Amino acid sequence: MTDFDWRGLQQAATEIAERAYAPYSNYPVGAAALVDDGRTVVGCNVENAAYGVVLCAECGLVSQLHATGGGRLTHFVCVNGRGEVIMPCGRCRQLLFEHGGRELLLLTVSGVRRMDEVLPDPFGPDDLETAR
Ligand code: THU
Repeated sequence: MTDFDWRGLQQAATEIAERAYAPYSNYPVGAAALVDDGRTVVGCNVENAAYGVVLCAECGLVSQLHATGGGRLTHFVCVNGRGEVIMPCGRCRQLLFEHGGRELLLLTVSGVRRMDEVLPDPFGPDDLETAR
């Protein structure tokens, strides 16, 4: 857990943040994650004149995950335009949970945390199965 190259993943997030389209908030975000087959996927936020239509960086990352072959996310970090670690928003924690599960490791403002620490008692695919 501690010998993972978080610095490299954070660097990938910082680089993709430069591609953000954030003319309304002026708050670029970059996200990067390792996939269980060794791929790295990235995303940046893409805003819209209709403000609520904003796509968080994590949306682009998850889209790239599937567009390049799927798999499970194992390690994740997102950063602001200064390359500083930020927390994924609540909606994006849910998005990440779907594709990484409880064990997904996130580099956060308070160190490395598991998904089920930053999204306790998550609602997910199992809940749908239980009710069927
Ligand atoms: N943003 C993300 O891309 N991901 C997050 O997890 C937090 C927020 C973006 C959305 C918007 O473009 C900008 O940050 C300011 O909220």
